[in-house]
Amino acid sequence: MHVLVVGGAGYIGSHMVKLLVQRGFKVTVLDNLSAGYRDAVRGARFVLGDLFERDALEDLCREIRFDGVMHFASHIQVGESVREPAKYYRNNVFKTQNLLDVMVARRVRCFIFSSTAAIFGEPVRIPIDEEHPKQPINPYGRGKWMVEQMLEDYDTAYGLKSVSLRYFNAAGADPDGELGERHDPETHLIPLVLQAASGRRPYLTVFGNDYDTPDGTCIRDYIHVNDLCEAHLLALQRLWEGGNSAAYNLGNGNGFSVQEVIATARQVTGREIPVQYSARRPGDPARLVADSRRAQAELGWTPRYADLATIIAHAWRWETRDS
Ligand code: UFG
Repeated sequence: MHVLVVGGAGYIGSHMVKLLVQRGFKVTVLDNLSAGYRDAVRGARFVLGDLFERDALEDLCREIRFDGVMHFASHIQVGESVREPAKYYRNNVFKTQNLLDVMVARRVRCFIFSSTAAIFGEPVRIPIDEEHPKQPINPYGRGKWMVEQMLEDYDTAYGLKSVSLRYFNAAGADPDGELGERHDPETHLIPLVLQAASGRRPYLTVFGNDYDTPDGTCIRDYIHVNDLCEAHLLALQRLWEGGNSAAYNLGNGNGFSVQEVIATARQVTGREIPVQYSARRPGDPARLVADSRRAQAELGWTPRYADLATIIAHAWRWETRDS
């Protein structure tokens, strides 16, 4: 089986490539390196390219008969999506449609899509199951929800089978220490906490401690990047076995506050983590926790690294890799 991993040089994509190669799949990575790193792609063919270049994509799909496509190539910053919606709709929606159209033209039937908890907007109930209302509150979430809806229509009309995986907070790093999170700029909590622990940053800024939560800081459901990758593989295998298109929420089902993340990171690293408090970051819901029972029941998915200390320990190993 030969899998095309679009965005395979990025954070989650590179972990996915490693897992696929380990499990004996042939892998081709397509990445424009706008946010990825060539050296993060190991054991797979690397093609430098952009989904905008539809002809080149068709040529690639003519050369190789892919059995499935996984699509990780997205812009991921909510705040930026509000300031630059055109960038988000062009990259995350329009270019995804190019990919889907080429798949339809070349009769590649199985597609795994990186979706997000941001499609739900401000939650009306916790934990968030798949049927929770979809009311995204920013262009990032709206674009992802548009693609999910497009996928339903492409299945009905063209028979393209897909699984949309709605990540809650992707975190952690390769347990072997070879891969990790390298966003520039980094906006995610756990790497920033660990940069404050290692001294790469002077302190962590906590965005708001006046939320309606037990300690006043936001609660999130952190899910290990390798557990996300396992879910992708299970989802693709389900489609290969003739399964229907579906969407799954992926998290551990446990919420941790920003303060709890900092406290756990202090334990794991044994370091001081200087903290400053600032105003809330616009658009941050107080609490996001997944109900992932459907993924467990239908995909047989069980997170292996569900413990927050383990997630942070793997990320810490990556943060301190050169020291
Ligand atoms: N936070 C801080 N300080 C920081 C960074 C984050 O206090 O320097 C807080 C945030 O306010 C939030 C929590 O830590 O309460 C987690 O923030 P992240 O930026 O790590 O993650 P988000 O929950 O904002 O984002 C995640 C994904 C995004 C996705 C979003 C959808 O990482 O890609 O969920 O809601 F768009």
